[in-house]
Amino acid sequence: MNRVDGKIAIVSGGARGIGGESARRLAEHGAQVIVADLLEAEGEANVAAIRDAGGEAQFVRLDVTDAQSWEAAVAAARSAYGGVDILVNNAGVYIPKPILETTQEDFAKLVSVNLEGVFLGTKICAPEMMRRAESNPAGSAIVNISSAAGLVGSRNAPIYSMTKGGVRLLTKSTALEFARRGIRCNSVHPGLIDTPMGGMVLNARGEEGNNAVRAAVANAHPLGRIGEPTDIAAGVVFLASDDAAFITGAELAVDGGVTAA
Ligand SMILES: NC(=O)c1ccc[n+]([C@@H]2O[C@H](COP(=O)([O-])OP(=O)(O)OC[C@H]3O[C@@H](n4cnc5c(N)ncnc54)[C@H](O)[C@@H]3O)[C@@H](O)[C@H]2O)c1
Repeated sequence: MNRVDGKIAIVSGGARGIGGESARRLAEHGAQVIVADLLEAEGEANVAAIRDAGGEAQFVRLDVTDAQSWEAAVAAARSAYGGVDILVNNAGVYIPKPILETTQEDFAKLVSVNLEGVFLGTKICAPEMMRRAESNPAGSAIVNISSAAGLVGSRNAPIYSMTKGGVRLLTKSTALEFARRGIRCNSVHPGLIDTPMGGMVLNARGEEGNNAVRAAVANAHPLGRIGEPTDIAAGVVFLASDDAAFITGAELAVDGGVTAA
């Protein structure tokens, strides 16, 4: 059975990385997907990959920090597929600087994309998701991509960690606000994942492509490896699906055990 069969999903930051894989995995499991991102060429390429695999998807240019852009994404989901059942708030940015080196511009950028983007996506998609839930007993679902650095502090990226901690609690408050209105909301907390952003995390610890750095970071994860986007996408599909119908306000660490210690 396709666990998100017939559902309509918006994936922010869906062009590449974790969002790209989540969009492909949702489509593979039967969802119609709006791939929403700033990156048009990569977003269109991901849509083409989904269609080549027999799935349904459309690209929409989205800037998560812009309310009008979110309104346009919801309108596109409505006109293409009939609404929104699943929202994956995945778009994010990473600025690895200690507090002493972080500028106010860095701080504003991290808060604007990683926190305000999740707030706007939730606020603007929720009315449509509540409407869809009226005719679907299993309801709608929001999945917020936080981080292992949203569960514990970070030496390398303290303000990033602050925003991801904010996403963790925004998730729980969203779960409470919408629990009787047909929307569940949960967060996913990835460890280091092999994506362009994962590459920035590795760079912050040493030279790019340095195998010793990769090995050290892999070894810091109790399961002994760096994660893949598919590891996260599997958690996203589960939390978005009706299999998770009694789960809301929860945090799913998909981090190779890094926050278990
Ligand atoms: N890769 C990791 O190790 C890791 C670990 C923990 C959490 N995360 C989180 O997972 C999510 C995805 O990360 P990733 O590794 O795939 O990163 P990535 O940089 O590979 O992809 C992020 C995507 O978000 C898009 N994006 C950025 N700003 C945007 C904006 N204003 N509007 C719309 N789209 C925007 C980018 O264009 C890009 O396609 C992020 O929220 C990130 O913080 C990643």
